[in-house]
Amino acid sequence: MKVLIINGSPRAEGNTSELVKRFMMNIGNKAEVEEVRIFEKDIKGCKNCGACQRTVLKTHCAVNDGMAEMYQKFLSSEITVLASPIYMWQFTPCTLAFLNRLHGLCHSKDFSYDAMAGKKMAVLITLGAEEEVADYAANGLRDLCEFFQMEYRGDLRIPFAEKQRISSGEYDEKVKEFVGKALG
Ligand SMILES: Cc1cc2nc3c(=O)[nH]c(=O)nc-3n(C[C@H](O)[C@H](O)[C@H](O)COP(=O)(O)O)c2cc1C
Repeated sequence: MKVLIINGSPRAEGNTSELVKRFMMNIGNKAEVEEVRIFEKDIKGCKNCGACQRTVLKTHCAVNDGMAEMYQKFLSSEITVLASPIYMWQFTPCTLAFLNRLHGLCHSKDFSYDAMAGKKMAVLITLGAEEEVADYAANGLRDLCEFFQMEYRGDLRIPFAEKQRISSGEYDEKVKEFVGKALG
């Protein structure tokens, strides 16, 4: 089983990256895991040129940037786990740019082509406030998955996140439980 982790935190040593580490530790050898730090990939938002909706592009998108290799990684993985801090009630801009650009994998007019269908998605979230503040982002992702016929495998939220508490193993029981849920 291939699991792709999209780490959407700009901070390589921050709370989210620490949570990703604990998540990967708990997966152990149960799956083949690849983590990509998406902030470093220079992925622009969709420009709505419509090219991907008129035809199935070899490259999936007319914009030639860091997303090109991400389509391959996404398509060759069964499960994609987004990992993002909450910024202004939402996932980070680079995480949202990645989600925007998945649109290139689907003809949303007639669904004659939908390469997202059947994929699984889960999300790891860290935030500064109480966990309900992540509802807006997590519910949006759940709806996106439903619309594009992906299976939403839920979220793990670390409210009032502090790196030390995450690295101390305080959340490991929750992380372990979530690994089970995400991998199925
Ligand atoms: C620009 C910005 C906006 C933020 N907005 C929110 C927010 O809306 N709600 C919240 O609970 N925390 C917010 N936070 C706090 C982060 O979500 C939290 O500190 C997170 O764990 C940071 O993850 P990182 O260490 O991986 O960068 C914000 C932080 C930044 C830098």
